[in-house]
Amino acid sequence: MDSSIRLVLFGPPGAGKGTQAQLLKDRLGIPHISSGDLFRYHLRQGTELGQRAAEYIKQGRLVPDDVTIGIILDEVLGLPVEKGFILDGFPRTTDQAKALEDALETQSRPIDKVLFINVPEEELLKRLSSRYICRNCQAPQTKVNGGEAARCSKCGGELYQREDDRPEAVKQRIQVYRDETLPVLEFYRKLGLLVDVPGVSSVECVQQRILDALRQD
Ligand code: AP5
Ligand code: MG
Repeated sequence: MDSSIRLVLFGPPGAGKGTQAQLLKDRLGIPHISSGDLFRYHLRQGTELGQRAAEYIKQGRLVPDDVTIGIILDEVLGLPVEKGFILDGFPRTTDQAKALEDALETQSRPIDKVLFINVPEEELLKRLSSRYICRNCQAPQTKVNGGEAARCSKCGGELYQREDDRPEAVKQRIQVYRDETLPVLEFYRKLGLLVDVPGVSSVECVQQRILDALRQD
């Protein structure tokens, strides 16, 4: 498959964007840009950006566009032009989507496909309440039996629970998704870029659906 492909992984909180992006990155060898991971990195480092974003993230609200757009577009436009990329968690407002379109147009490298990982709310709540993240490699995973001693299945790192996976924050994130992010689907549907990927199946099965979708014109 073409390693210059430019993708957006789209879907509600807990749909599996990060999980699938990581697999695609390993398979295709293209960069994975996750807005959430980037913000969490700045939070951990205590940078000015991290401090500005902290309260929004904790409450499950979107970091304002005037902060987010510049940071992500810098990352995307900073990639070598022949390289593809996988965007995960961006864009999630219509203004972000428009800004991305405009920026990519200046480099004549538009988005090739937007993969909508579709998962119903009941399943999202289940996944987010049992999700743990590796402190070392950031891989999301499901911790079974609440096993305190469980380590990252990829690198053996320590696992932690995200602060915004608390039930109140999850509720808020899903509401924000409905109000502010769902309209982005229509934006991409009109551009003819949207591909629906049913997201309730094993991780491997969802990955296969994505690969099949990428092979289609
Ligand atoms: P972000 O980090 O992007 O969070 P999110 O969109 O809410 O999505 P998640 O990371 O929670 O879920 P995911 O789809 O990646 O699922 P995962 O693969 O982990 O954003 C966090 C915050 O940052 C936002 O709330 C906002 O404040 C800020 N922010 C980020 N981007 C922004 C932007 N563009 N604008 C403004 N603010 C922004 O999987 C979930 C769980 O399910 C895991 O445990 C996984 O192991 C499991 N799982 C995955 N696939 C399957 C499967 N097929 N079957 C069973 N379990 C599965
Ligand atoms: Mg994620």
